[in-house]
Amino acid sequence: MLEVELSSLRLKNPLILASGILGSYSSSLNEIANDAGAVVTKSVCFEGREGYRNPTVINWKCGLINAVGLPSPKALDFANELKKFSFVSPLIVSVYGKNAEEMEKLAEIFEFANAFEVNLSCPHVKGAGIDIGRDPELSKELVRALKSSTEKPVFAKLSAIHDYVKLGKELEKVEVDAITITNTIPGMKIDILSRKPILSNLYGGVSGQAIKPIALKCVFDLYREIEVPIIGCGGITTFEDVLEFLMAGANAVEIGSAVFYSKKIFYSLKESLIAFLRANNVRIAELIGSAHR
Ligand SMILES: Cc1cc2nc3c(=O)[nH]c(=O)nc-3n(C[C@H](O)[C@H](O)[C@H](O)COP(=O)(O)O)c2cc1C
Repeated sequence: MLEVELSSLRLKNPLILASGILGSYSSSLNEIANDAGAVVTKSVCFEGREGYRNPTVINWKCGLINAVGLPSPKALDFANELKKFSFVSPLIVSVYGKNAEEMEKLAEIFEFANAFEVNLSCPHVKGAGIDIGRDPELSKELVRALKSSTEKPVFAKLSAIHDYVKLGKELEKVEVDAITITNTIPGMKIDILSRKPILSNLYGGVSGQAIKPIALKCVFDLYREIEVPIIGCGGITTFEDVLEFLMAGANAVEIGSAVFYSKKIFYSLKESLIAFLRANNVRIAELIGSAHR
């Protein structure tokens, strides 16, 4: 009842675990995979990265602010760990790198992935993520390199603070298979007693409810301008949020911060969506983009 198409993937439901939320272990991903339509891994680069020292995550009233600094094992070690993934849902490996050669190596190491998501949007690591997304030519080169090294779908994850319509259109030229939007949005918090920024990196990325209206507008704007499927991400905590993203034009959604509050969120969203579809006698495909008609 909840099946959706996402490029060549067929998902049992449109609810995808967002990147970076459950660390780098297959056992954590397996816990979510039964109920989720797909799972995205922590972002990984070829060499691996240590990340920042604590404090790296702040839980504040409207969501989280994090600057974990893209910590991940080396790609080969991460690939070995991911071989324990259950594959009851598709595995989307989130990757980042500086050049085409690194992308080609990542495609080979993670050849067992069902799809890739290129991180062009992490806001707190210099020279990675959002900095790469600011350069449309480099972004295209990376997506092109990955696409030419794998038969699997390649998604690109953009930021709300990019010129995302322009970047989305550029990436369509190199046949990106879907656009995910958004990553966390830059922000910070200051401790009023020490009068200092709390995060060791000074600023981080805001996620959770605070960013939902922003992410929703990104999906709505992109749906009008691009042809490839869109994956909406940012602040989704309820089934009503999921419906809004579908109506704005998303084929699927990614859920991140809400998992910190309940690991059962995929199950409860799925059940609520089924109840909504039945009560309104509507098919999920009819909802996608319906706010534009
Ligand atoms: C602790 C933490 C780590 C994250 N790590 C990554 C990452 O490695 N790669 C990535 O593309 N996004 C990462 N994100 C961003 C999420 O995937 C997601 O885009 C963002 O949190 C917005 O969704 P949400 O409001 O549902 O959390 C991370 C978010 C958090 C909170």
